[in-house]
Amino acid sequence: MRLAVISDVHGNRLALEAVLEDIGRQSVDGTLNLGDVVSGPLAPVETLDLLIPANFPTVRGNHDRAAVDEKTKDKVDRFARERLTSTQREWLAGLPATRVVDEIFMCHGTPTSDTAPWLDNWWNGRDTTLPDEASVTSKADGLDFPMLLCGHTHIPRIVRLRDGRMIVNPGAVGLQIVRGLPDARYAIIERRNGRWQAALHSVPYDFAAAAQQAQANGFAQWTDALMTGWAGPEGLFG
Ligand SMILES: [Fe+2]
Repeated sequence: MRLAVISDVHGNRLALEAVLEDIGRQSVDGTLNLGDVVSGPLAPVETLDLLIPANFPTVRGNHDRAAVDEKTKDKVDRFARERLTSTQREWLAGLPATRVVDEIFMCHGTPTSDTAPWLDNWWNGRDTTLPDEASVTSKADGLDFPMLLCGHTHIPRIVRLRDGRMIVNPGAVGLQIVRGLPDARYAIIERRNGRWQAALHSVPYDFAAAAQQAQANGFAQWTDALMTGWAGPEGLFG
């Protein structure tokens, strides 16, 4: 079994198209989506025009939850919410928080939270360190699946626990931060001879055009992040 894993598209249709084209050359059996699909000052409607018919198994991210909440204050979530069709909002509202596909467990942040980080501490300023082993391992307690998937932090990372289980964060398709690479990210996971392995991929795309979309939509703080991948998360949401 060989699958592609995407996460954190954040309404970046141009990045999504490039990633799906790259996945198209990977001979995969399917694609899994870890959420935060639309919230971003780019192309939320066009992103769902592509993703809803694709019908990838998908979990809900914190920003998917916010994008269908009338009371949301986050400007980026509101940008998406105000543009989505009612059908698209219903699709988002119907996403589950976690999901199991075959022997793979999918969540957005951690198994119990769509806002907590699992494999990174990126929101402590620009600190992108891996949390300690006990912290990472304890969040997998009771999950008897050999492959555990999470997103949310936009930082790609692979961990194998002492008992052999893997935790994979594919990074973000649509918005790169603090690593100095603007290219879109995704992962390939594969079970060979009963063992899971993972590979992290990056795909160049027309990020200058994506940055222009953000600028034109009045979100100047997104342009530098999209153009370079160096920006911190400060000021991008909220
Ligand atoms: Fe998220």
